[in-house]
Amino acid sequence: MLAGGTGSRLWPITWGVSKQLLPVYDKPLIHYPISTLMLAGIREILIITTEQDQESFKRLLGNGSKYGVSFSFATQKNPDGLAQAFIIGESFISGDKCALVLGDNLFHGDGLGTQLRALNDIQGAHIFAYKVKDPERYGVVEFDMNGKVLSIEEKPMKPRSSFAVPGLYFYDNEVVSIAKSVKPSARGELEITSVNQMYLEAGKLNTTVLDRGTAWLDTGTFESFNDASAFIQIIEERQGQKVSCLEEVAWRNGWVNDADLLARADEYKSSPFAEYLRGLLA
Ligand code: TTP
Repeated sequence: MLAGGTGSRLWPITWGVSKQLLPVYDKPLIHYPISTLMLAGIREILIITTEQDQESFKRLLGNGSKYGVSFSFATQKNPDGLAQAFIIGESFISGDKCALVLGDNLFHGDGLGTQLRALNDIQGAHIFAYKVKDPERYGVVEFDMNGKVLSIEEKPMKPRSSFAVPGLYFYDNEVVSIAKSVKPSARGELEITSVNQMYLEAGKLNTTVLDRGTAWLDTGTFESFNDASAFIQIIEERQGQKVSCLEEVAWRNGWVNDADLLARADEYKSSPFAEYLRGLLA
């Protein structure tokens, strides 16, 4: 999980607090991408933050045992790019396969967990594509008629398609050595798109188009933060179910039991989360 960055588009708010700790309606932004990893069945999570914000993340999240997972923490000195996550996380990843999620990306949709769990035994790389109105803000992936990836470009001025690459990526263990071989781009960052281009050249880049019933929101700007909050509030109020409630995901995954869930509810005291968790058991 990459949860560093400068959040400069949200200044002055992010002068005092990390973007990923800000609320999206009723919970901190970082809970949403954590829930995505948990839905994928991932239980060992390295949270990479800036040095100055690390204590706040530790206070918020603890060691993960509440949610049936394990959180480790590392720092990124400067926001030198997404691919640096694999260099910082080298010993954490060790000989395993891994996934990377960006701390400000929010995914919500029916069947997403099942779709992601299928990637646990990945060979090569697996990324996603999502149709957006403004692909030039993202990595852009181009397909042929059969869905084979032809190209992937970072923030192109003239996008070759409307398909952006969301901030959720699955890799085999080669990603560490590939990330180490990436050279900084013109904007001085180790680009995840460069990693994906290398997998593409090796014929090992797989892509799934996320269907239109899946919501992918990123929350880099004032407007998109507000939109994400409104989106979550509307769904939760309509359905009476919470989106990305970590205690609930852990319980549904069978990682914590009923007694654990009750204990979590008691900790929430007068927060509406207390009643929500008790309601799940009822
Ligand atoms: P961005 O939105 O590209 O960057 P940012 O969060 O610093 O914001 P701004 O552009 O407004 O200055 O980052 C996407 C996500 O990745 C976000 O959750 C922060 C994280 N990130 C890192 O943790 N380290 C990095 O080196 C970069 C570039 C991003």
